[in-house]
Amino acid sequence: MKIEILPSLLAADVGNLESAARRAEAAGADALHLDIMDGRFVPNISFGPDVVRMARRCVKIPLSVHLMLERPDEYVPTFLDAGADSLLIHIEAECDVPNTLEHICELGGYAGITLNPETPAEMIFPVLDFVDEVLCMTVHPGYGGQEMIMSVLPKIRAVRERARLIKRPDLKILVDGGVDSDTVVHCAGHGANAFVAGSALYGATDMAQEIRLMRQKAMESFLG
Ligand code: DX5
Ligand code: ZN
Repeated sequence: MKIEILPSLLAADVGNLESAARRAEAAGADALHLDIMDGRFVPNISFGPDVVRMARRCVKIPLSVHLMLERPDEYVPTFLDAGADSLLIHIEAECDVPNTLEHICELGGYAGITLNPETPAEMIFPVLDFVDEVLCMTVHPGYGGQEMIMSVLPKIRAVRERARLIKRPDLKILVDGGVDSDTVVHCAGHGANAFVAGSALYGATDMAQEIRLMRQKAMESFLG
């Protein structure tokens, strides 16, 4: 199974986002994760499309754009035009979710569905045919630096089991929130293969070494 490590730009120094994006690429990140927040779906407000455009200019690795928006459907072309490779929308969003996922694919993007910690796995089963990836939030979205909510782990396994049942054993399952070189072991053990990490990577003295460590531990513990 391909293991991916995605630094989250939210944890970078906001005054140096260009160098932070380049730092992730130089450290061996598989993709860069950008958190877009509207102050309504989540209490916080973060980046807009200009930051995605900046990242697109600075790095060649894919851009994973996490839309924490009440109405992600209204912004699909905006973020794809800005250079996003994958758009992750929430199943809890106030829009026609299957339609929005289809729209992302039609415009050439990879479509991802995201679940908040309390949302049961079954909620996304009807849209699995429309998605390239699934993101399980392991904190309440809105802020970096929170502790992982371990009770989410069985849900990751439920999504992996469902993926196998529908003959998509290689479905990309990401986790986001409180991921570090210790918690990565539990997430991979439950079937996640892609890991978003903000504070653990941008707070590391040697990001490359931290990415290698997380990748190694995830590989060793994947569904083990
Ligand atoms: C939280 C964001 C995360 C955040 C993770 O709403 O979706 O991507 O950056 O930060 P850490 O890894 O610090 O928990
Ligand atoms: Zn995120």
